[in-house]
Amino acid sequence: MINGNKVLFSGMQATGSLTIGNYLGAMKNWVALADEFECFYCVVDMHSITIRQDPAELRRRARKLLQIYIAAGLDPEKSCLYYQSHVSGHAELAWILNCFTYMGELNRMTQFKDKSAKHADNINAGLFDYPVLMAADILLFQADVVPVGVDQKQHLELTRTIAERFNNLYGDVFTVPEPYIGKVGAKIMSLQDPARKMSKSDENPNGSIYLLDDPDTVARKCRRAVTDSEGMIRYCAEQPGVSNLLDIYSACTGKTPQEAEKEFDGQGYGVLKDAVAESLNAILQPLQKRVAELEADKAYVDRIIRDNAEKAQYYSTKTLRKVQKKVGFPERPRIK
Ligand code: TYM
Repeated sequence: MINGNKVLFSGMQATGSLTIGNYLGAMKNWVALADEFECFYCVVDMHSITIRQDPAELRRRARKLLQIYIAAGLDPEKSCLYYQSHVSGHAELAWILNCFTYMGELNRMTQFKDKSAKHADNINAGLFDYPVLMAADILLFQADVVPVGVDQKQHLELTRTIAERFNNLYGDVFTVPEPYIGKVGAKIMSLQDPARKMSKSDENPNGSIYLLDDPDTVARKCRRAVTDSEGMIRYCAEQPGVSNLLDIYSACTGKTPQEAEKEFDGQGYGVLKDAVAESLNAILQPLQKRVAELEADKAYVDRIIRDNAEKAQYYSTKTLRKVQKKVGFPERPRIK
């Protein structure tokens, strides 16, 4: 609890360009939940370097991501929007939690398997340890709830296991967090291959719609989306491409997929695709406008970054000191 409120923590990697999957699966729920909790939304730049990054590009993307958090509707005066690398507790707690996590547990992580297959020339220890840093992110703030897309569920389960293991040994140190996974939009699929998740790192740019795509590009990508030859608009496993479009439409408009299915009953795929593009552009256009404004207001964004780093450092230190004491580290002398 912070100031009598339950705590929400979540984060995104500053790798690649954000897709509508990131927005509809996570960020949209962050905004919806922001008033109910004391919130921490992190730009996880330390996670990003588990894959080789161009340093200037990473810095640029991290700042852009923070601006997108604000543009999406998070109030940086209320919610704490900050960079992971600005708060030393993430790495410090990750080290301690490493000593309470088993190799076998990390070996089972599907994201590790996927990423190590994709980056076979750079299977570094950080990539293997990625879920422990993520657990540290969450536990550092004693988060009650973590809104994420379906693909992060396994990491959340491991976080809970680590927290419970630690609590069993040392008493109630950590809040055991609950994942929050939205009913719609929790797994947006590629527009070119509806069997695969829409991903920032997809080589085929037509498979993903990026948050900063212009309206014509959005419309073109929707029109090219892979569907099927059924000729019917049904929300079902046999029509994954059509169902994915209905999912996107529902997540954008707040309708259920069943309501959307009814709305398009008897219509052609072209009509559905144009409606999806329109519903996306209605969200993306104002977001992009706000990002451009923030880009121009350097002093404001710099102040937000500074103030929130301080806030995050303050709350994270509380947990960190408690944990350090529990595991038996000597008390710190006051160092200037
Ligand atoms: P990342 O950066 O891959 O994705 C950010 C968020 O977007 C969700 N997401 C999706 N949701 C629906 N459909 C999709 N196609 C889709 N693609 C991505 C993800 O589930 C995620 O919620 N490991 C995390 C970042 C992280 C984190 C944390 C999250 C680090 N520490 C602590 C929560 C709490 C990641 O790589 O997300």
